[in-house]
Amino acid sequence: MSEGQNSRIHRKDYAAPQHLVDSVDLVFQLDPAETVVHATMRVRRNPSVEPTEGLALHGDELELRAVSVDGIALAEDEFEADSEGLRIHRVPDAFELRTEVAISPERNTKLMGLYTSSGAFCTQCEAEGFRRITYALDRPDVMSRYTTRIEADKANYPVLLSNGNRVGEGELPDGRHWVKWEDPFRKPGYLFALVAGDLVCHRGAFTTASGRAVDLEIWVESENADKCEHALASLQAAMRWDEETYGLEYDLDVYMIVAVNDFNMGAMENKGLNIFNSKFVLAKPSTATDDDYEGIESVVAHEYFHNWTGNRVTCRDWFQLTLKEGLTVFRDQEFSADMISPAVQRIKDVTRLRTAQFAEDAGPLAHPIRPESYIEMNNFYTATVYEKGAEVVRIYQTLFGKDGFRKGLRHYLESHDGSAVTCDDFRESMAEANGADLTQLERWYAQAGTPTVRARGTWDAEASRYSLTLSQSQRVMPKQAAPLPLPIPVRVGLLSPGGSEIPGSARTLELTAEEQSFSFEGVGERPIASIGRGFSAPIRLEVERGLDELAFLMAHDTDAFSRWESGQELAKRVLLGLVNEVQAGRPLQLEPLLVDAFAKVLRDASLDGSIKSLTLKLPSEELLSQELSAVDPDAVHAARSFVVRELALALRSDWRETYDRHAAGSDAVTKPEVDRRRIKSRALWYLVALEEPETIALATQQFGAATGMTDYEAAFLGLVDLVCPETDAAIASFHARWKNEPLVLDKWFRMQAMSSASNVFDRVVALAEHPDFTLANPNRARSLLYAFAAGNPVGFHRPDGAAYRFVADQILELDRINPQVASRIVSSFNQWKRYEPRRGALMRAELERIASTLSISKDVREIVERAIQG
Ligand code: PHE
Ligand code: ZN
Repeated sequence: MSEGQNSRIHRKDYAAPQHLVDSVDLVFQLDPAETVVHATMRVRRNPSVEPTEGLALHGDELELRAVSVDGIALAEDEFEADSEGLRIHRVPDAFELRTEVAISPERNTKLMGLYTSSGAFCTQCEAEGFRRITYALDRPDVMSRYTTRIEADKANYPVLLSNGNRVGEGELPDGRHWVKWEDPFRKPGYLFALVAGDLVCHRGAFTTASGRAVDLEIWVESENADKCEHALASLQAAMRWDEETYGLEYDLDVYMIVAVNDFNMGAMENKGLNIFNSKFVLAKPSTATDDDYEGIESVVAHEYFHNWTGNRVTCRDWFQLTLKEGLTVFRDQEFSADMISPAVQRIKDVTRLRTAQFAEDAGPLAHPIRPESYIEMNNFYTATVYEKGAEVVRIYQTLFGKDGFRKGLRHYLESHDGSAVTCDDFRESMAEANGADLTQLERWYAQAGTPTVRARGTWDAEASRYSLTLSQSQRVMPKQAAPLPLPIPVRVGLLSPGGSEIPGSARTLELTAEEQSFSFEGVGERPIASIGRGFSAPIRLEVERGLDELAFLMAHDTDAFSRWESGQELAKRVLLGLVNEVQAGRPLQLEPLLVDAFAKVLRDASLDGSIKSLTLKLPSEELLSQELSAVDPDAVHAARSFVVRELALALRSDWRETYDRHAAGSDAVTKPEVDRRRIKSRALWYLVALEEPETIALATQQFGAATGMTDYEAAFLGLVDLVCPETDAAIASFHARWKNEPLVLDKWFRMQAMSSASNVFDRVVALAEHPDFTLANPNRARSLLYAFAAGNPVGFHRPDGAAYRFVADQILELDRINPQVASRIVSSFNQWKRYEPRRGALMRAELERIASTLSISKDVREIVERAIQG
């Protein structure tokens, strides 16, 4: 069985809709077991397409109760309803359509459409969930004005929310009540939202630059009322930033955020009523880490920024998803850079891109940021569409500068406000506003794969000239045209041997052909070139240079991101050399240059704790594995653990001194305190790796005394890699203390799943049986299964294949509950071809076992079949 059964949708087949829907008026009679939805739509033919006789609406798992056109109920032979939707054979040019359907929110475990979460009702409609609520033209280029009347039991659901403004409310018999909402902005169905529950509101306010007073409301369960301050402050900061940076203001009188415990993704930008995974709302210092705080700030901002880039101007079709997501990720990255620190933010973003997106681009599911086809749209909310998409947006800014980018963005929004457009429209707006020709840039949208750029420099002493030759190449994708050269901006600068930047040498080179040379005049000494500053394009860069040059750049580069980058490259080279030694069975020896470089950073008083901590972190096993063919995860782990221990030993007194110096402070989430905790945690981590009674005691002591979650988690993270009584005690006490805080308990599952302890697999199997584990909650399922499969290379890839079998079994069970979450986790098998043959065969066997299960969802089937085909 294959694709045939599930249809593949192609970008080239886009056709404008046959009908337009001017208004959608909804009435919900809420009940967890059976909710009735009445919809009234004003429908008319789309004047710009060839007329057809009938009307076709999408629908998924709806029970049709009644349908009428212009007030006249349709006879049986006038329509057809099946699992795909509703087709009415003949309709007038313009008419009123009424439908009545029944749905079951409490049995909706896919969490798409209307569902219940912790006793409340909520919705998720992107990408194609609106059709699970009512029959609709569920495509983003059909935009309508909505009203929503919600009726529900007043005691259980005192709060009734939807998009836009509240325009009426009242009482009903039998203890029920109603509220009516009206959204003045036209929108596609994927931005519809409804929430009903017993929630409390954390209120704030914002006055826009032009004087509009906006009520800010964060709705949560009452026990979480004390965890909303940070989300509110993040929202206010994002609103201010978008005004200052791009002149973009909010456009309604109220902005609501609701936190729900069961959510497939991070959050959703529904007009005026964002619905969030509670993980990206709730925080106080005792329950959330510094990284959690940063995650909340960035996701709150991301969803807010969508109000312009996504909602006011939306996507014509789902192939254009990166139009809103790449752009909005870029905007949230820029915001976080301004809030936190540009270098720290860039390091985080680039690390995430390399870890998730480069792997995706090198595997069987590689796709361009604007895909050409899909079977299940939910599978295309990928690192490529989001993270690489953001890097492509960044290219415009690198080319035109911040002012040119702002001009282009404003021109794009002004030209297309209120409409549904394409990536080409964005590129054209940017070109128009900046008087540039961006034809070649389209290739970034069309070609999959990570380009490699090789750089070779030569210095001509007599002519005082330095020449840099750049050449690009790309993987040829199966069944695709040979890749064409991309326009690649490469930021460079030259350093003199003394370590200072050669004045005027910092430039952005524009590589547009397969190979080009660039020369720098007046270079009187042999320079050291810093290449790819700020990670100016999503490429792999290959520069032939020795470890000593990397150490030099790590110490002297004027670009903070590039100093970190050189350190990572240095560590990576050393580590990959050691992987070789492990595999050849030779004794290991640590390169002294790496120890020196680390010592210098550790002792450098001019670096802040966050940068220092990031620089002292070795490249992950996942990143190292990307550089290898026939990956042996045990060898990678052995090499990396060796380096960790050697660095811990060689610099032991520095680590200890660093720890002691940064031990005391407050739990406040302020830059100095966050910096302090970051370097303190790094030092503790190296010390614990020594596995000595004294260092274990240090972690145990911090674990017992911590009042803030960052310190608590850092201590647990050290202990959980060990097999000793202190570890068992910490695991037990963590659970006892936090069993009633779901988000903290997720951390308990996640950290155990990612442990490098030798007994991790047994622990994970036992955790899957734990009374607090459930596949029905996406956060919990991911905390154990995704963390283990994607974040624990040694545990997941144990040579006997037992972990593959276990995870595959869990995926099959999860798929029956929630295909979208199952299909994320199954992606952990995609890279099977990159592993050494025995493991590769075991992984492939599990993929085949999943594929041969007839009942699997189309979400999982699309992924496994492509993975098997390679
Ligand atoms: N549009 C959401 C975002 O990125 C992501 C999302 C997609 C959420 C699909 C839910 C479902 O902001
Ligand atoms: Zn988004």
